[in-house]
Amino acid sequence: MLKAVLSKKNILECDDYIACVSDLIEDENILRLREFSHHIGTTRYQHSLNVSYYNFLLCRFLNLDAKSAARAGLMHDLFFYDRRKHEKGVGESSHISEHPKIAFFNASEMFSINELEGDIIANHMWPATAHLPRHKEAFVITFVDKFCAVAEVASSVRLKLKRSKKHKG
Ligand SMILES: [Fe+2]
Ligand SMILES: [Fe+2]
Repeated sequence: MLKAVLSKKNILECDDYIACVSDLIEDENILRLREFSHHIGTTRYQHSLNVSYYNFLLCRFLNLDAKSAARAGLMHDLFFYDRRKHEKGVGESSHISEHPKIAFFNASEMFSINELEGDIIANHMWPATAHLPRHKEAFVITFVDKFCAVAEVASSVRLKLKRSKKHKG
């Protein structure tokens, strides 16, 4: 059973969503993201799934390209290093500005992505990065990504407090 943060639904039973990402969701490169912690208590795979699912729902509600939004959401943080240990070499930019470029490169190498998906992946950190997104769907992810990050941290803290209460009680 796969669930998105704040949702009780089994994503695998959401046929409309799965139809958009069925080839990606169990791809070995995407599954490899399970090996990396992303936010407190959340793997990069779970974070990518959260962003992908809410991107899909929001873009579908707004009559935008929900399929590309779902697919790009799964690939938007497609990098394979521990971001806390990312060291900035001389002349290199920070992880915040660098990782969308790395994710775009990896997604282009590993999958066949369209121009819209490329824009969503490459510009998901805007306004922390300089380039303005070209499509509405890319603006959606800038909001969804931040929303999911806050929800993931909040859910993890809530779970920890619940466990410690239970332990003390
Ligand atoms: Fe990111
Ligand atoms: Fe992200």
